Amino acid sequence: SSVSSEGTKRVLLASPRGYCAGVDRAVLAVEKALEVHGAPVYVRKEIVHNRHVVTSLEARGAIFVNETDDVPEGAIVVFSAHGVSPAVVAAADRRQLKTIDATCPLVTKVHKEAVRFASSDYDILLIGHTGHEEVEGTAGEAPEHIQIVNSPDDVENVVVRDPDKVVWISQTTLSVDETMETVRRLREKFPTLQNPPSDDICYATQNRQVAVKKIAPQADLVIVVGSQNSSNSVRLVEVALEYGAKASHRIDFAAEIDEAWLEGVTTVGVTSGASVPEILVQDVLAWLAERGYGDTEEVVTAKEDLLFSLPKEIRRDMKAAE
Ligand code: F3S
Repeated sequence: SSVSSEGTKRVLLASPRGYCAGVDRAVLAVEKALEVHGAPVYVRKEIVHNRHVVTSLEARGAIFVNETDDVPEGAIVVFSAHGVSPAVVAAADRRQLKTIDATCPLVTKVHKEAVRFASSDYDILLIGHTGHEEVEGTAGEAPEHIQIVNSPDDVENVVVRDPDKVVWISQTTLSVDETMETVRRLREKFPTLQNPPSDDICYATQNRQVAVKKIAPQADLVIVVGSQNSSNSVRLVEVALEYGAKASHRIDFAAEIDEAWLEGVTTVGVTSGASVPEILVQDVLAWLAERGYGDTEEVVTAKEDLLFSLPKEIRRDMKAAE
C-alpha cells in the first residue's frame, strides 16, 4: 500500500557492524592459546556471546566451562571478554590455573573506575543488566559500594547513604538513549550525581547504534545478526524499532530468517552485533539476494581502526614458543 512497497527491493547494510576490537582480541587469544599450548584450552564462560564463535572454537579444542572449579588443577584457562571479579581470579589462583585474561581493556577501564570510587567511599550506581557476566565482574570489584540499576524504572528503588556522594558507571553494551534516561532520572533524585570520568558505553556499542539509527527509518525490516545472550545485539533490535524500522528481528544464522518477514518488504536493513563474525552477515546477504534483494548499499556512519594488543600472558607464551 505504501510507496516504498512498490519500489525496488534493496538492502541497506550498516557500517560499522560486527567485530569490535575487544572481541577480535579475545577470540584471537583462544586461537593462539590452542596453537601454542595445544588442546584442550579451557575457557571460563563463552569467550564472546556468539554461538558460531563458541562452536567453532569447541571444534578446535576449546572447552567452555561455567566456573574455574570445572577446570582441572594446573590447566590453562582463558577469562572471557566480559571480565571477571577478583573472587574469580582468587579461585583460579587457588587451583593453580594458568590464566590468560581476555577481558576487553574497555571493561577493565570500568573496573578501575569502580575500584577508585569505592576507595573514596562513594555509593556507585552501576547501570546494567543483573545477571550479565560483565555486570557480575564489575560489581564484584566493590560489592559493598555498588548497586545495580537495571532500567529507568529501577531508579525509584535506589537508596544511598549520602546523596552528595554518588557516582554512576555502566555496562559497556547498553542502549545509549535508555542509559541517558536512567541517568536523567537518577540526577532528579541525586542532583550532585557524578558522571564517570569517560564514556563507559564503548565506542563499538555506540557506533553500531548510530549506524542502525541511520538505516532504520528507511527500512521495512531490520535483520540483526547476533546471539540471544549478546547484550549489544539485542539492543540493536530495540534501537532499530525505536528509530522507525517497521519490524526487526535478531537471528544467529541466515537459516533462521522466516520468509514471511519479507512480505511487502522493499528495504531490508542488515547489521550485526560486536561479537558476530562477518561470514554470518555475508550468509544473510546471500540468502536475501536469492530472494530478490541483491542490490546492497553500505551505509557508513563511522570508520573504526582500533586494535588491542593480545593479552600479555599469551604474548609471553608465543614468544617462549618461538
Ligand atoms: Fe570491548 Fe566494547 Fe567490544 S567493551 S569487547 S569493545 S563491545
